[in-house]
Amino acid sequence: MATPDFYSYAWTPPASVDLRDRFVCVRWSDGVELLAFDLWLRENVVGIGIDPATREGLIDPADLGVNGAAGSATAIIGASIGATGAVAVQFATEAHAHLLHPGWLRHVAEGKHRPASWLPAQMVWTAADRWEPPTHDGPAVLATDDAFAAWINDLVSTGFARLRALPDDPDVALALAARIGAVRDTNFGPIWDVKADVTMAGSADTNSTANTNLRLGPHTDLPTRETPPGFQFLHCFRNEAVGGESTMADGAAVVAALKAEHPEQYEALTTLHWVFFNRGPGIDHRWSGPLIDLGQPGAPLTLRAFYPVRGFPDMSPEDMPRAYEAMNCFSAMAGSDRFQISYPFQVGDLVGFDNRRMLHGREPFSADGRRHLRGIYIDHDDVLSATRVVNRAAARAVLDPSIRRSL
Ligand SMILES: [Fe+2]
Repeated sequence: MATPDFYSYAWTPPASVDLRDRFVCVRWSDGVELLAFDLWLRENVVGIGIDPATREGLIDPADLGVNGAAGSATAIIGASIGATGAVAVQFATEAHAHLLHPGWLRHVAEGKHRPASWLPAQMVWTAADRWEPPTHDGPAVLATDDAFAAWINDLVSTGFARLRALPDDPDVALALAARIGAVRDTNFGPIWDVKADVTMAGSADTNSTANTNLRLGPHTDLPTRETPPGFQFLHCFRNEAVGGESTMADGAAVVAALKAEHPEQYEALTTLHWVFFNRGPGIDHRWSGPLIDLGQPGAPLTLRAFYPVRGFPDMSPEDMPRAYEAMNCFSAMAGSDRFQISYPFQVGDLVGFDNRRMLHGREPFSADGRRHLRGIYIDHDDVLSATRVVNRAAARAVLDPSIRRSL
């Protein structure tokens, strides 16, 4: 039976179906229940409200009779369990009932239509929990579905994951992106270099602090954007420098500790705004926001923490002392041994991380060696979509072992 999407669902006939005013109440034998509103059901009848070809909605809300008046096309006059276990819904002005897939209704009842579904639970960590990144074999992740699924679930859950032994290919990050989704382009280009060729700190040739051999404290990239890039993937292509270890801290853990141990600083960091500003030649990117941007309920954490592009306090003068004090507290915690781990970046490594949750950085490195990283950004949307796809495929293979597990 067609569903309003292209996914597979177990056939789960309900124990009872009855009409309650404008709602169809579907109840399963284990007590799970769904109250399905008449207009929403109408919108989800395949062939009426859903285009069978695109599985997208067909009804302009202007064409919906919204008052539920008896006799209107969207008024439901009967609901029952069909002969095969489907849910049968009878609209007032039609001669026959429409059948809805009970497994599809059940997935709504279980909340599996929500954005958090089919994603691994977030595993918040501190340095006490781990001393090095979760590590996977790069060539295997590029080549096989199972290895890719294991890696991307680690990436989403832990917030970062490393690939090792990747081939000597400057565009290998793009090969990885081809398995995930669209690359997020920026003024640095779709793929960009972090390169310091025997550079001198302060050289006029570079457009970013990243392209020096200076230490970079714990930070997130591009807080100058309304929505900073979701994930960052950094490939170590050449490294003949001494030093330059990478650092990583889970910003979610830092924020939780700050909230519990320094509530006044937490309040300042979540409410007081700063203007972040890319002041490069030919560009003028800017955004005003708090350093800890909680967004709407359910939205991912966004840390705006990159002092090279934090331009101006956007707050009352009397708030500035506590804003600086709170920021000092936050950065000291993020860079402390309690939260931050340090690991070497070897040629053939590619580290992926949630750019809005993780705080990444690097130690200074020798100015007499070459170090060349290649990076790309991919937004949360595409990484999370790819993760849901592989997890759905795995669940589908369990449901029907004859189906080849495939992306
Ligand atoms: Fe960075």
